[in-house]
Amino acid sequence: MIKVKINGKEIEVQPKTTIIEAADKLGIDIPRFCYHKKLSVAANCRMCLVEVKKFGKPLPACATQLMDGMEISTNSKSVKDTQKSIMEFLLINHPLDCPICDQGGECDLQDTAVAYGASKTRYTEEKRVVFNKNIGPLISTDLTRCIQCTRCVRFLKEVGGVMELGLVGRGEHAEISAYVDKAVGSELSGNIIDLCPVGALTSKPFRYSARTWELIRRPSISIHDSLGSNLEFHIKDHKVMRALPKENEAINECWISDRDRYSYEGLNHKDRLQTPMIKVNKSWKAVDWDEAFEFIVKKIKPQIDKNQGDTIGFLYSPQSSIEEAFLVNKIADALGSCHVDYRVRQDNFDLKGVWLGCPVEDIEKLKTIVLIGSNIRSEQPLMANRFRKMAHAEGKIFTINSYEDDLLMPVTDRIICRPSDYSYELLKILKALTTLRKLSINNHYVESQMKAIPVDGKSLAYAKALIKAKNMGGIFIGQNALNHKSANDIYVVAKIIGESLNINVGSILDAPNIVGLDMLSHNLNKSNTMNMLESKLSALITVNLEGAKDISCGKVLTEALKKSKFNLAITPYSSDAYAEFDCLLPMATFTESSGTYINIARQDQSIKAVTKPLGKARPAWKILRVLANYLQIDGFTYESSEDIKKEILGNNTSFNFPEESTNEKIKQIKPGGQGSLDHLHLVRSQDNDMIVRRADALHALDGNWLDVARVNPKTAVKFKLKDSIKVDREGEEISLPIVEDEKISTNTVCYYQKLTSLTGTKLESNKAGS
Ligand code: SF4
Ligand code: FES
Repeated sequence: MIKVKINGKEIEVQPKTTIIEAADKLGIDIPRFCYHKKLSVAANCRMCLVEVKKFGKPLPACATQLMDGMEISTNSKSVKDTQKSIMEFLLINHPLDCPICDQGGECDLQDTAVAYGASKTRYTEEKRVVFNKNIGPLISTDLTRCIQCTRCVRFLKEVGGVMELGLVGRGEHAEISAYVDKAVGSELSGNIIDLCPVGALTSKPFRYSARTWELIRRPSISIHDSLGSNLEFHIKDHKVMRALPKENEAINECWISDRDRYSYEGLNHKDRLQTPMIKVNKSWKAVDWDEAFEFIVKKIKPQIDKNQGDTIGFLYSPQSSIEEAFLVNKIADALGSCHVDYRVRQDNFDLKGVWLGCPVEDIEKLKTIVLIGSNIRSEQPLMANRFRKMAHAEGKIFTINSYEDDLLMPVTDRIICRPSDYSYELLKILKALTTLRKLSINNHYVESQMKAIPVDGKSLAYAKALIKAKNMGGIFIGQNALNHKSANDIYVVAKIIGESLNINVGSILDAPNIVGLDMLSHNLNKSNTMNMLESKLSALITVNLEGAKDISCGKVLTEALKKSKFNLAITPYSSDAYAEFDCLLPMATFTESSGTYINIARQDQSIKAVTKPLGKARPAWKILRVLANYLQIDGFTYESSEDIKKEILGNNTSFNFPEESTNEKIKQIKPGGQGSLDHLHLVRSQDNDMIVRRADALHALDGNWLDVARVNPKTAVKFKLKDSIKVDREGEEISLPIVEDEKISTNTVCYYQKLTSLTGTKLESNKAGS
């Protein structure tokens, strides 16, 4: 430790601490523009100059490391004169357009000029003008206001992973520029708006919609991935106007993804369902809540009275809070139904209790990672940043995936294979490990299958890297692998490798509360989505799901809905997806409700409503409570979501997470038949859930290129695929044009979820399903 004095105050700090870091610790304000604690030091704005005893000239506090005994002054006359001069210099070319600047009122330059600048300018010459650039649908530029701090450039390079902006020219001609005609495409791009200390970069969707002093700030979390990023919603007239990050080092640091930032646009979309609807004579009718519940009771009660409650199925979203999920399960129990599930995108239901396996921050410390079946950049943009940091700190990333995606980080090696071969490739790595060191494998299904497996150069390289990492390695299983029917086999083999080498095995789950919902239903003997939909249901109740858009077995769901006598959806939106339903109850979005979510790293976070529900919508927990009351089920007297949480916790003060459980009896693992094609049906991050699907800015760059089936040219030749191929998408068999793409694994056809053409259900037209 070294001892220094700042403005006469003594502080002990670690060697290599900079003056600005020590001053921040002491609460001493040093003005700054280019410095940001999460970015590399540029030291180009000179706003942080301070006086250091025995040094003949002012030093930049952001770039000067402390030495034992240093005495620093941040408020001497010479420092104040310097600050005034720098402010004057920075304002030479900065336009005085604060009244029409979106940053006005929350601008670092404005605040710093007031606190440290002179009251008058001596500069009378013309100011320079920089023409704006169109860098995409999310960020608006006003580059005349830029002070060339380069925070945006450094962020995109260091955190986003790609240098999409740069500083061109010198001196007065220096300006921020993007590649010609190229939009900024990073999934984290919106963070440069927060980083920009002036109004040069502002939010395009938010532009001119509110002034900062009109906004009420309310904390919340994001529910669009499994990280649970902390954020702050800014509200005006009971409407969310924008979302900004809220710092939480253990989860999202000080960033949020573009999906978390711009998805608020979907909250008040015209598709919002604002009143209960019932179907009468095949036409929709808007009714009040009482009439809707009476309608439901009339349809469901006969089954219950005949003791056929087990023919009522419940499907709820993995975005549900644990309070909502608890009530769904409690109603199902009371009715005697085992048909209740939230696992809507999985094709395998053997895995339970899986999670990241470690705190999110620990990913950065690992030395070797094997990432299986994941496009981490799009699935979990902020988690990808942790992987990126690890890779830039000389960590090694190896992947097993069915397409060669650009992760924007160094990847040491890749195995590109069809999805059904993930488990086979992993088993080869396990076999390679056994050739390198003695392992005891306590699973005879795995042991016996391994005998016939060959070892190749890649599996040996992967195995050697995992051994070399000692216990600082990790295997992470992503969405494409977890949702695949071989998910259990992949996990069982990964776990054997993990336990043999004492390394972390984690699952990168795709929804905000899978860990919490699994905890609630872990030990219950329930059916699963597939079994439920294939059994004879008299009624199906879905919560926060948009029919086949949110479920992998869309065709099975459509059939089940057609066969069932009564279908009820508790949903925030209306759309064509509800054509087979008989009743829609308007549900509040997560911003209009309260509840608890447990993220991928088992951190629980409770949130409160930030706005009131739209129209007659109500929080799902309230709807479920009243539904239970109408069905005369006892024990539903909750006044708040906290009451429900208390019942879930019982005598405990925190949640107890169950052990992971798998089916040790793995299937026959062998390479996929050469005569068959694997279908890889991807869901883009912008289509992940009902809210993001309706966030217009996130879809502004969508094009027809997404509405194609991509295959490797070798596969196209082998299977004689010329113009189009038939695929099963969202319950419909459709024909997609073929596009050849060498990055896709052979024997695989890859396509995206249907592009959302969200026209609403047009319920006003009173036409069912129109
Ligand atoms: S645009 Fe903003 S963040 Fe980027 S260099 Fe200019 S002032 Fe800095
Ligand atoms: S903040 Fe130190 S030089 Fe810019």
